[in-house]
Amino acid sequence: MAPATVSKGWKIHEFTPETATPRKLADALIQDSGCFVRGLIPLQVMDQIEKDVRPYFQNDQPWLDKVAFPDKSRRVQGIVSRSRAWTESLIGNELYQDTANIILSSKIAYWYGDIRVENAHYPKLCSALGFSILPGAEAQGLHRDCTIHHNGLEEITPKQYRPGRDTQFGMFVGGNKGTKENGITRFVPRSHLWDMETKSCEDQAVYAEMEKGDAFFMLGSCYHGGSANNTKDEERLHENQFWSHSKETIASYDKRMQNIIGYRLSTPLLGWVDWRDPKALLVPEEEARAYGIGYIEDERVEYLNMPAETNRPEVTVT
Ligand SMILES: [Fe+2]
Repeated sequence: MAPATVSKGWKIHEFTPETATPRKLADALIQDSGCFVRGLIPLQVMDQIEKDVRPYFQNDQPWLDKVAFPDKSRRVQGIVSRSRAWTESLIGNELYQDTANIILSSKIAYWYGDIRVENAHYPKLCSALGFSILPGAEAQGLHRDCTIHHNGLEEITPKQYRPGRDTQFGMFVGGNKGTKENGITRFVPRSHLWDMETKSCEDQAVYAEMEKGDAFFMLGSCYHGGSANNTKDEERLHENQFWSHSKETIASYDKRMQNIIGYRLSTPLLGWVDWRDPKALLVPEEEARAYGIGYIEDERVEYLNMPAETNRPEVTVT
């Protein structure tokens, strides 16, 4: 699919579920900070999510300091306990997770005595948030979410982009038609390449307008602001999933989702509980033996080795 013109001369790459691959998305993100996958989430799934979370929006109160979130915005969090449709279809979306693996996974090779070892560290769910923007809500200031992680950045070119640059990677999904008028997220293309001292201004921002079920993918180092409905999957925890949800809730998901939510041992030995993978906490003791001392989970993942020049998207600024 040809790139779509969004505004102000920027043409941001857009895909469909048929044309999108994790590699293509990663390349487009490294080029422009963000990209779209139109029609990624089926409308009936979005309807179910709306049913699941609407009561929480209605019970939410205005954010006190009015800086992080506008007065007339309402939020829902704790999604893993509140919406199975959201958790499995958005957070667990395969294209999203596979792209997150490319952008965020780190890999290390080292010597242990005479043995050559390779280990990987995989992304975990950082937070999942829904926003309802009520009429009259003011815009968020343009900001970079990676400041939460004190992520100091130097200015680079797309060719200089390396693993570790981003500490988080988000997917925004339209819960209804999102427009410039009703508060859809705006972002500054290519701002993920800037250093921390470079300030953005509104003239540079373009609106990530979406239909219901469309997805907008964005690097955490990109300037953005304002919101419709969104989820975020990020490398380091914002929401503490281990205390936000009961063990029974986590146990009700399959092993892949438990890993994404954060119940995963990172090899060689990070995040253990009694020397075991934290999934051992979720099952009866007989089954927990499967996660015994020395248990290593190793799934194939594509890492962010810099793509060949021929794979890189063309620059589409006009
Ligand atoms: Fe943000």
